[in-house]
Amino acid sequence: MCGIIGYIGRRNIVEVLISGLKSLEYRGYDSSGIAVLKNKKILRHRTVGKVVQMESTIPAEFHHFVVSKNEENLVGIAHTRWATHGKPSEENAHPHTDCKQKFVIVHNGIIENFIEIKNKLTKHKFSSETDTEVLVHLIEEKYKGSVLDAVKEAIKLVHGSFAFVLISTYEPDKLFFARKDSPLIIGLGENEKFIASDVTAMLKYTNKFIFLENDDYGIVTIDDIKVYNTKTTALQNRNVAVVNWTAQMAEKAGFKHFMLKEIYEQPQVLRENITARVFGEDIVFNDEVKFSSAQLKKIKKILIIGCGTSYHAALVIKYLYEQILKIPVEVDIASEFRYREPVLSKDTLAIFISQSGETADTLASLRMVKENKILTLGVCNVIGSSLYREADSTIYIRCGPEIGVASTKAFTGQLICLYLFGLYLAKLKSILSEQRYQELLNSLYKVPSYIEHILADTSYIKQLAEMFYMKKDFLYLARGINYPIALEGALKLKEISYIHAEGYPAGEMKHGPIALIDKDMPVVIIATKGSLLQKVFSNLEEVKSRDAKVIALTNYGIESKSIDYKIVLPETDEIISPILNVVPLQLLAYYIADRLGCEIDQPRNLAKSVTVE
Ligand code: AGP
Repeated sequence: MCGIIGYIGRRNIVEVLISGLKSLEYRGYDSSGIAVLKNKKILRHRTVGKVVQMESTIPAEFHHFVVSKNEENLVGIAHTRWATHGKPSEENAHPHTDCKQKFVIVHNGIIENFIEIKNKLTKHKFSSETDTEVLVHLIEEKYKGSVLDAVKEAIKLVHGSFAFVLISTYEPDKLFFARKDSPLIIGLGENEKFIASDVTAMLKYTNKFIFLENDDYGIVTIDDIKVYNTKTTALQNRNVAVVNWTAQMAEKAGFKHFMLKEIYEQPQVLRENITARVFGEDIVFNDEVKFSSAQLKKIKKILIIGCGTSYHAALVIKYLYEQILKIPVEVDIASEFRYREPVLSKDTLAIFISQSGETADTLASLRMVKENKILTLGVCNVIGSSLYREADSTIYIRCGPEIGVASTKAFTGQLICLYLFGLYLAKLKSILSEQRYQELLNSLYKVPSYIEHILADTSYIKQLAEMFYMKKDFLYLARGINYPIALEGALKLKEISYIHAEGYPAGEMKHGPIALIDKDMPVVIIATKGSLLQKVFSNLEEVKSRDAKVIALTNYGIESKSIDYKIVLPETDEIISPILNVVPLQLLAYYIADRLGCEIDQPRNLAKSVTVE
């Protein structure tokens, strides 16, 4: 994700844009930039790194322009980047301009067909690797005297998600905008207007907003707002909403904690990852995975390394890949792998999962494997991080910054990317029937809306938190591909509530853990549709006969008198279910920790990224 902001009015425009960017920085901070338009001249300044770097290097000429002498309104835009296309660099930083510096744009989203469009703009000169620069040149190409018409023509040709603000020397007293699948909000001030990725950036100046809808586009001037929609020709009427948030809360977009906000971002994150890589029946990784088809077809073994939640993602993928790729998959905790003198074979693909891309043990394992000339693939959420740079190829999980220490959207982001990569490999190796391939792809498409269904009503999970928050020990049980979700659910609870919790394979109970069970130990069990459900039911009986209280994740129609509390989830394919099943466990952990008044976003003793051993 990126953060964008536009302003028209008579304040010190640099101050307005910079302060707006700073509150949008949680959306990305690889690079940032600002552009101001005055006397038909565009001033632009961009730097790599955080907003403060850009702010501290703004050229003097900007300050000469920026305070309006009340004789005219100033118009400007600014951007803080979370790199998707093109590494973090000044030339890739927004704002981007056209060939003649008549248009300048800031954009949040992914233009999927930017290469196809770029190849048709043969007369244009590009200076960056970004998809956004293609968009502004396309608008330049479409310009025939009306900027709005050029915007309208351009967005008809664009596939993917976008929210952009554009200014032009042709019509210097206007902000032009359009949005599809990425958020964009107009802020209404007294004799001034704002437009930004979320209210965070504007709350300092106004609490009146227009939340633009999908496929909206239009114009903002100092005294008017015109909203159109690509689906109709008529001018649209959008309500003005009053948002009574504190600036601090707004940073969390109204959520009490970043963790809860990030749980709720999961449907958008998964959708963004699917739409960025799935085109009809094809899954495309070619601008991320630099290995040839021959190299990928030769793979005889897969190694997956990670820590914590990333390790749990690795375990899920082990079950999935051995079922759909029929090759052995070895999974290891990085801090163990790096010291156990592993036996490595050459036709191996080693996958390293790390949200931060900076976990010391994971990086050390990567460097060790690379010495053995084995293909390395990173799965990471931070472009420019060590993992991102050092792995031979890296899949970027497009989650936007994950601020909460307890990983949530990055976990499901890792899973969706590796699920898609698994199907990509299966198709390449012709190892999965077309029917099964299509079935799994269709099931993945439904996951975001299933998660939205879970998030739409969390009242029952809140009630469970109220009933169990004083408990001292929890046991999480599951079988098969959901066993790693039992581990993940237990990790979520212990790291934010400090309650002891263990995840265990349900079949392993009789080998020890059953001795722990009594009426004071809640047992959370995953009993969703699957090939091992009857086995899970047997484990349920064992647990119930020791008086435990049983909380079960299950599907409609699955009944058992041994279940005391049912969290009913939409039914999906068994091997897809981990992506769905983790969400209620994230919520249960969150609400228990919140009921205990815990420091959820910064739990004691934990850091977001463990960059030391
Ligand atoms: C997960 O909630 C924890 N914050 C932690 O286990 C984390 O997953 C682990 O430190 C790995 O971090 P990484 O994905 O950035 O490598």
